[in-house]
Amino acid sequence: MKTPTRHTQAFDEWIRHRFVALNDQLEQAYFEQADKNNVEGIGDDIKQVLLTQGNDLISHLLEEGNTDQGFDSAFDLLGNVGLFMAACRRHEITEPSRETYSPLKQASALAMHIGASIGVTPRFATAHLTTHNRALNGTYKRFTSLEDEQIFVDYNTKGILAYKRAADALLKIQPLGISHPICFDLLTVAEQALSEVIDSSSRLFNKLDADRFFYCVRPYYKPYRVGSQVYRGANAGDFAGINVIDLQLGLCAANDQSYSQLLVDKFLYMMPEDQRILRDCMRRQSIMDDFLLQRSASQQAWYQKNLQQFLVVCQRHGQGAIQHHDQLVSKYISQPSTDMAQQHMAKVTASGPPLPVLIAALEKLRDRRAANKRDDIHTRFDDIKTLQASLK
Ligand code: HEM
Repeated sequence: MKTPTRHTQAFDEWIRHRFVALNDQLEQAYFEQADKNNVEGIGDDIKQVLLTQGNDLISHLLEEGNTDQGFDSAFDLLGNVGLFMAACRRHEITEPSRETYSPLKQASALAMHIGASIGVTPRFATAHLTTHNRALNGTYKRFTSLEDEQIFVDYNTKGILAYKRAADALLKIQPLGISHPICFDLLTVAEQALSEVIDSSSRLFNKLDADRFFYCVRPYYKPYRVGSQVYRGANAGDFAGINVIDLQLGLCAANDQSYSQLLVDKFLYMMPEDQRILRDCMRRQSIMDDFLLQRSASQQAWYQKNLQQFLVVCQRHGQGAIQHHDQLVSKYISQPSTDMAQQHMAKVTASGPPLPVLIAALEKLRDRRAANKRDDIHTRFDDIKTLQASLK
């Protein structure tokens, strides 16, 4: 990465230190209340400092204009502006349903300038906090210094990187073909990587405090307005790998209307490199379809060996999806939401839809990935049974 400009450096320094300290103070004040969800009328002087200091630093950057420091610097700066805007949303300095245009005019202008020029959404995305979050002297960028925020981000990063390893292995099968001896090795790599996702999510489930996550971490991931548009919150799924796995295994299809809607909606939340990988993958045939088409070879040793391993990979992917939904979403989103006062209900999810709608959509994803039998949506339940029957 090129050396950042003086103003970029000053803003980065502020985001890494003073910004975190201000958020910490506010989190402490909210958490001490009987209604931990309330942010109104709490720490108004601190909120004012956050707003004034952030706006001031951003105004210099806006004046500076496009300094052409390359993609990495631009993406990093967009992340910093995004962290500031997300914190303003969390503290209800801005509130998309109250406004038609973000009151953070300079931050919006800068975010839109950068986002449009590098081909990503003009808000902070998951990559800013996880896979593209540079640590300085052991500490990476965060909203607060709360231990639970670090646990959440660490395990999201581990999960994302493991999913990417599985996706990379599966993508390498295509040019070799399913009868190639190395296909088995690549499927084994994918199985191991998916087992690592499951293992790391189990650890997250055991370590992360549900109250802290729900009240002090999740609120930074809410939708917010940039200019006139509301952009949905970031979530750990905003990378291509998870969909590459879905599509390459054949558990989900790019021409299935609700799944393709999900893909279309997430494109600009991913890094440009991920956008390219996913586009390419959407044009390919799945490994499951390859096996179904080659069932006449079921007596061959390669078919038996590689199919068996393929079915193990599908099973692992399903297990990971079941764990995400039945453990993580349930413990950290659904259960705490039921205890929540009705007036705060609209604010629970990162993507905006009401909670029951979001949960139903996530359930469909889980069942597609696990190839569960469902009457209302197409899953690969029958095809998996057919393939299992062709094993000796
Ligand atoms: C999406 C919750 C951790 C992978 C989502 C969504 C929720 C959620 C509610 C829907 C998006 C939205 O809110 O608008 C959680 C919770 C977690 C957690 C409560 C832990 C406390 C993880 C981890 C991974 C992960 C560790 C692994 C990389 C995904 C993926 C999606 C997603 C891939 C996109 C939807 C999909 O394709 O399944 N998550 N998540 N999540 N999450 Fe998580």
